[in-house]
Amino acid sequence: MTTCRICATSIAPFIDFGEMPIGNAFVARADFDTEYFYRMRVAVCGTCATLQVIDVPDPDRMFHDHYAYFASTSAFMSRHFQELAKDLEGRYLSKESPFVVEIGSNDGITLQYFANAGIPHLGVDPSSNVAAAARAKGVKTLIDFFNERTAQRIVDEHGKADVLIATNTMHHIEDINSVAAGAATLLKPSGIMVQEDPYLGDMIEKTAYDQLYAEHMYIWSVNSLGNAFGRHGLEIFDVEKNDFHGGCMRYFLCHAGTCAPTRRLEAQREKEKKLGLAEPKTYETFRRACETSRERLVELLRRLKRDGKRVAGYGATAKSATIINYCGLGPDDIKFISDTTPIKQGKFSPGAHIPVVTPDQFHEEHPDYAVLFAWNHLAEIDAKEQAFRRNGGKWIIPVRMVEVL
Ligand code: SAH
Ligand code: TYD
Repeated sequence: MTTCRICATSIAPFIDFGEMPIGNAFVARADFDTEYFYRMRVAVCGTCATLQVIDVPDPDRMFHDHYAYFASTSAFMSRHFQELAKDLEGRYLSKESPFVVEIGSNDGITLQYFANAGIPHLGVDPSSNVAAAARAKGVKTLIDFFNERTAQRIVDEHGKADVLIATNTMHHIEDINSVAAGAATLLKPSGIMVQEDPYLGDMIEKTAYDQLYAEHMYIWSVNSLGNAFGRHGLEIFDVEKNDFHGGCMRYFLCHAGTCAPTRRLEAQREKEKKLGLAEPKTYETFRRACETSRERLVELLRRLKRDGKRVAGYGATAKSATIINYCGLGPDDIKFISDTTPIKQGKFSPGAHIPVVTPDQFHEEHPDYAVLFAWNHLAEIDAKEQAFRRNGGKWIIPVRMVEVL
């Protein structure tokens, strides 16, 4: 029997994406034969409403010394998180003993602000290569998995935190109960926790099934996140919606009973009820939409091939692994994928083995079409690649019902 990771209710998949490689596991040619796959099936819990990938690889397989995601590659995201840091400093840091902890601090994209301002802080991240990049920016980082044990260690060594940050990280962690318990231990009685993740409502609305992969093993909603953290004495008191990463929700949590819930929170809870985010038929509709989106992408790429068009990919995202492998695409459909991340360049996309190249190569080859796997960065990428469309190039947006721009 399969059970919910949060509340142990028995769950059944509503969709099966088939055998999947790890989204960020870009492979060298020598390692093709030993690539790791898992079966990607997704379920929603009828009790706590958490949408989850049922079977996922062990954390050590995903977060290690050659983790491929460097958050600061996006200038827009860097600005977004520097603004978050500034806001948190102004609103929530105590004067007497300020202390900020971030779970999933990656290359220091957010904590850099506190490091530059000389504010006591600590990042926690198990991926030692991205943590090294953070340390090089002066960001204090504990290289470890955050859980109840590490939380207690931080309290013993540094004291409790005013502010706990976790952006784009809470969907990466299998043992979320241990994380939530740890967060409750680490937070001062008056402290607040800020989380921000891709939002379930957006995933459904945009048929953005590429938000799902092993590292994104949950797609949270106000309802489900509130249930998961509520079990450990933390409650959501405010939310803020934004359009980053294809549509995110920012959640503000505190120790239960210490903050007044905002009207915005109540309005969002009502909206979720109207969206039917806890109802099985929503997921039946979503499954059918995923299948239609897949058919449309495959048909479009087939037609372009027949017409002799050259098609590349742009942004070797972890998300792209879900699309490429679910749609059964390969180097015959997409010749190469351009990406700015040095650790990905020269390697091959997980599962399908499409070569990852530098933006220079993308500019030299000037394909007719580019599947924008980093569709969440459309504004930033379109601004820097103006010549592509000016010279007749077209973006293919692989989510929703597939769009050509
Ligand atoms: N916060 C950044 C990075 C998100 S990527 C941003 O918003 O862009 C997710 C990060 O979570 C990775 O760096 C990964 O190594 C880290 N991570 C995964 N499991 C973790 C855990 N148990 N504790 C802390 N960090 C974890
Ligand atoms: P992203 O969509 O942020 O996340 P994920 O991997 O979790 O799906 O990944 C963006 C990828 O696109 C990352 O590998 C860097 C790359 N990229 C570019 O190549 N050029 C750009 O201008 C930007 C913003 C990103």
